[in-house]
Amino acid sequence: MRLITATNYTDMSKLAAEIILKRIKETNKVTLGLATGSTPIETYKYMIEDYQQNKTDYHHVTTFNLDEYVGIGPTDPNSYYYFMQTKLFNAIHIPEQQTHIPNGLAKDLRQECIAYEEKIKNHGGIDLQVLGLGSNGHIGFNEPGTKFDTRTHVEQLTETTRRANARFFNTLEEVPTHAITMGIDTILQSDEILLLVSGEEKSAALTQLLESKKK
Ligand code: GLP
Repeated sequence: MRLITATNYTDMSKLAAEIILKRIKETNKVTLGLATGSTPIETYKYMIEDYQQNKTDYHHVTTFNLDEYVGIGPTDPNSYYYFMQTKLFNAIHIPEQQTHIPNGLAKDLRQECIAYEEKIKNHGGIDLQVLGLGSNGHIGFNEPGTKFDTRTHVEQLTETTRRANARFFNTLEEVPTHAITMGIDTILQSDEILLLVSGEEKSAALTQLLESKKK
């Protein structure tokens, strides 16, 4: 594990964008795992800026998002589908068929999870996974206590996570109770993981992670 310390959120976002863009520019086929939440927003802004300045080509890039809420659709501003279109995809002109996000409205959610895993596998796995960290330590929507061998599945969200994410919704009741998420094993199979952590509310979870690595 390599720990890169940044002086502030902007600096972290620039460094993260540089790492991602290096992969995109130096490889002729790349599969990215992407995250939502507040943390990667500025990283995506730098990627957009880079696109505008350099017309960076995204035709060789495939993306898989980590997760999606169950029960809300692509046109809902709180869906992660909507987030990705508005915060990154539309601006970098990546062909839509190369971007993948679990369908939280799927009739058969179990089948949706299996199919998502298959798609990742058929693309040869994820080369670079961008990850955020929930204040309770969750990655994707894998809540604390999730087994390490899990693949894409439906997760019941904890009260802590629903409360933390309620800031994006009108009321706490509107926050979905479940989400589809890549499993911990799916994430750990990635060739490289870029975990972005910023903000005081994350310090306990980050300290725990760094301490457990020493053991
Ligand atoms: C959500 C997402 C996670 C994200 C986390 C932290 O629960 N499912 O993937 O890492 O929030 O979000 P933020 O970056 O807004 O703190």
